[in-house]
Amino acid sequence: MRAKANLIVIEMKILVTGGAGFIGSAVIRHIIENTRDSVVNLDKLTYAGNLESLLEVSNSERYAFEQVDICNRAELDRVFKEHQPDAVMHLAAESHVDRSIDGPAEFIETNIVGTYTLLEAARAYWNELNSERKQAFRFHHISTDEVYGDLPHPNDEPIVSSVAPTIESASPVIASETPVIASAAKQSMDCHNLQPRSDVLPLFTEQTSYAPSSPYSASKASSDHLVRAWLRTYGFPTLITNCSNNYGPYHFPEKLIPLVILNALEGKPLPIYGKGDQIRDWLYVEDHARALYKVVTEGKVGETYNIGGHNEKTNLEVVQTICTILDELAPMSERGNPLIVKHSSLIIHVSDRPGHDRRYAIDASKIAKELNWQPIETFESGIRKTVQWYLDNQQWCKNVQDGSYQRERLGKVL
Ligand SMILES: NC(=O)c1ccc[n+]([C@@H]2O[C@H](COP(=O)([O-])OP(=O)(O)OC[C@H]3O[C@@H](n4cnc5c(N)ncnc54)[C@H](O)[C@@H]3O)[C@@H](O)[C@H]2O)c1
Repeated sequence: MRAKANLIVIEMKILVTGGAGFIGSAVIRHIIENTRDSVVNLDKLTYAGNLESLLEVSNSERYAFEQVDICNRAELDRVFKEHQPDAVMHLAAESHVDRSIDGPAEFIETNIVGTYTLLEAARAYWNELNSERKQAFRFHHISTDEVYGDLPHPNDEPIVSSVAPTIESASPVIASETPVIASAAKQSMDCHNLQPRSDVLPLFTEQTSYAPSSPYSASKASSDHLVRAWLRTYGFPTLITNCSNNYGPYHFPEKLIPLVILNALEGKPLPIYGKGDQIRDWLYVEDHARALYKVVTEGKVGETYNIGGHNEKTNLEVVQTICTILDELAPMSERGNPLIVKHSSLIIHVSDRPGHDRRYAIDASKIAKELNWQPIETFESGIRKTVQWYLDNQQWCKNVQDGSYQRERLGKVL
C-alpha cells in the first residue's frame, strides 16, 4: 500500500476484473507500464475478452492472469486467498447495449449477480485482513454515465421515418434495415446546425438521479446500488466512477467507432442509427485508465466520481470525422475503388435503436478539482490516434472476430 506521509511507497497488488476487455486492458497496460504495482487480471474471456490486448505487458513478473467467472464464488475465494490483493478494480461486465436488447439475461447474471458475488467474496476476504490492511483496502466499481438516462438535446425533434435508402446496394448484413433518412448530406447540415451544447444545456453530475433506459444501463445501475449498499451496511470501503463513452485502441469492433473504421476500410456501408444526432461525450480510453488509477489510489472512500472528456459530438459528426481522416490516411483511390472517392459516401441511416438515449454529457469538475485529473487527448487528437491504430493493427481485428460476430446489426426489437 502507498504511505504518502513518510514518502515510503510500497507497491500495491490490484485485482482487475474484466482486464481482457477494452477498458480493463488499458488499465492493466497503464499500471504495468507506469507504476510499480502488480496486477491480477481476473476475466472469464467472453467474446469481448482478448488476451492479445495485453501482449505488451503479459510477460511482466508483476502480471498474473486468472480465467474465472465473477459469478463463481468458490473460484473468487481461491483467487483472493492466493493473490492477497490490496484493492479491486471491478470492470468485468456485459457492456454492449444492443446485445442487452437481444438477450438481457446475461446482463442480469454478470452485471448484477456477478457484482453481488464479487462483493461478497471481497468482503469475506477483507474481514479477515489485519487492521492496517483492512483500513487501506479499496473496492472500486467502474460504471457508466448511462445509469443517469439521458439529457435534454439541443435538437429534440421527432425522428422522420420511411424514406429512401442512401445506398442502393447495402451489404447483406444490414440489407434488412429500414433507412430513415434520404440524404446523409442533409443530415450533416442538420447536425452541424446544433447550438453549442455544454454551456447551455445541463450535464450529468454526481447528484443526478438514476433513470436507466436499457437493460444494460439498468443492470449497471443495479450494481451501483449494491456497491453503495455494501458501503453503508457493512462499512465495506467502496468507490464508484461513472464514465462517458470511451474510444481508442483495442476496442471490439461491434461498437460505433471501430465498426465504422473497419467497414470503411472494406468499402462497406457505415450504418448510423436514426438521424445520427445522438450526442455522446467521448473520452480517450487511456485518459479513462489514468483517471481510474487516480481514483483507486487517491479517491475518498464512499465517493462517486464522474469522468468525461468534454467532447460532446453527435454520432454523425463522429462518423464524418473518421471518414475525413481515412480520406487522408487511407484514400479510397489507393485501395482499388476509383468509383467511390469519399468514405462519407458510404454513410447510410438505419432505423434507430429502441429506447435510444438522446444525449449524454458529463460534468467532470469534481474529479478535476479533488484528484487533479484532466483528459490529455482532445477528440481530434484521440480519434486520429485511434484510426491510425486500427490501420496498423488489422491482424488484431481479424483475430478478435472469431466468426461468432461479423459486424452484423444487433439490438433491433422485432
Ligand atoms: N466502453 C465504454 O464506453 C464504457 C463507458 C463507461 C463505463 N464502462 C464500463 O467499464 C467496464 C468495462 O467496459 P469495456 O468497454 O471494457 O467492456 P468489454 O465488453 O470490452 O470488456 C468486458 C470484459 O469483462 C469480461 N467478462 C464479462 N463477463 C464476465 C464474467 N462473468 N466474469 C469475468 N469476466 C467477465 C469479458 O471477458 C471482457 O474481457 C464495464 O463495466 C462497463 O460497464 C464502459
